[in-house]
Amino acid sequence: MSTDGKINVMALDWKTIGELWHIPVITAAVAPSRYSFSLLTDGIKEFTINIPSPKINSAIIIVGSKSGRNTDKFRDANLEPIKGDQTKVPTIKDSLLSYECKIVHETKSTDLKK
Ligand SMILES: Cc1cc2nc3c(=O)[nH]c(=O)nc-3n(C[C@H](O)[C@H](O)[C@H](O)COP(=O)(O)O)c2cc1C
Repeated sequence: MSTDGKINVMALDWKTIGELWHIPVITAAVAPSRYSFSLLTDGIKEFTINIPSPKINSAIIIVGSKSGRNTDKFRDANLEPIKGDQTKVPTIKDSLLSYECKIVHETKSTDLKK
C-alpha cells in the first residue's frame, strides 16, 4: 500500500513460511521490476499474503500478468479487499487463509538461478 492509500495485488509463489525466535516469519521474494516492489519499499511497511480459494483462483492469471502501475487489479480480477485486523493493508475476500504481515527486514538476494 502506498503512503496515500493505493492498494495493489500480485501473484507470489516465491516464499517460505517459517519461524524465528518463536515468531512466525514469512520470507517473500519480489523482483525489483514489480510495481509491488516499489509499494513495499516506499509505501507502508506492511503486506498481506492471501491463499486463494477455488472461488477466486482464476484471479491469479490477471494479478500475475498485469501491473498495478497501469490498472486496478482488484477491479480487473473481481477481488474484494477486506479491512485488515492487524494491518492497514487489506486482506482479500474468499481467501482460504490470510497472513497479515509487517516488514521486519529487507535484503537484496543474489540470482539463485545463476
Ligand atoms: C503463479 C505466479 C506466481 C508468481 N510469483 C512471483 C513471485 O514470487 N515473485 C515475483 O516477483 N513475481 C511473481 N510473479 C509475477 C508477478 O505476479 C507479476 O509480474 C505481476 O504482474 C506483478 O504485478 P505488479 O507490477 O502490479 O506488482 C508470479 C506470477 C505468477 C503468474
